[in-house]
Amino acid sequence: MILNVEALAKRFPGGVEAVRDVSFQADAGELVALVGESGCGKTTTLKCINRLLEPSGGRIEVDGADVTATDAVALRRRIGWVMQGDGLFPHLSAAANIAVTPKLLGWPDAEIAARVDELLDLVRLNPDEFRDRRPSDMSGGQRQRVGVARALASRSKLILMDEPFGALDPITRDGLRTDVMALKDKLGFAAVLVTHDMAEALLTADRIAVMDQGRIIQYGAPSDLLAHPADPIVERMLETPLREARRVRELTEGRADV
Ligand SMILES: Nc1ncnc2c1ncn2[C@@H]1O[C@H](COP(=O)(O)OP(=O)(O)O)[C@@H](O)[C@H]1O
Ligand SMILES: [Mg+2]
Repeated sequence: MILNVEALAKRFPGGVEAVRDVSFQADAGELVALVGESGCGKTTTLKCINRLLEPSGGRIEVDGADVTATDAVALRRRIGWVMQGDGLFPHLSAAANIAVTPKLLGWPDAEIAARVDELLDLVRLNPDEFRDRRPSDMSGGQRQRVGVARALASRSKLILMDEPFGALDPITRDGLRTDVMALKDKLGFAAVLVTHDMAEALLTADRIAVMDQGRIIQYGAPSDLLAHPADPIVERMLETPLREARRVRELTEGRADV
């Protein structure tokens, strides 16, 4: 098991219980989606995993080790993080952005240069074209591809993604999402995807944790949620994707009849 979150709780000073009794697991090559409305505790959960926040209760294991027994800085260098927007350093080239963690880890320059080109290829950006380009000279989708390459740079077994595709137009989003899933299958990392978009979760996740007010109200495979929504909130979240799927099916069936 790459990631094991057990009964995680996070209370902020002042008493906000942002996360309560949250448990989920991700094995190598699996993607778990955390889905829910703004403020339900998704980002707090991610930040507890890489110790940007200290949990108030529960237990988190990454690759078999309790994260509280691991140095927080070393832990963060081992876990890939893709943020909303791209989080790139604007004054650094694509190559320098991707190289940030390998540099901190003390990799030799030649190895870093080779890794940067390999990663640009993996996220389908031509290294000769993009190596020296700054974020301001790239499209939103290209910047987020660099963000994904940076998260993968140190061969992380675990990638955390916080609304990574939210700011992109639908076609760019679909292309990048498909590529990230193919990379997950190819490289075998475990991934946690935070999204408020149930359709995105249904299309990408092995398992979905639906969150509401800090708790998980349903945890299961997309097919489980669709077959047995456990809560009216889950039912409501499924309504739009189901309606759209039905409408597309009607239209394509109609076309087949012509
Ligand atoms: N540093 C903080 N101090 C106090 N409350 C916080 C802090 N960060 C988040 N919260 C609160 O915790 C809850 C969950 O926030 P968050 O995890 O960011 O939600 P989400 O990512 O699902 O939108 C919200 O009520 C938010 O206001
Ligand atoms: Mg958030």
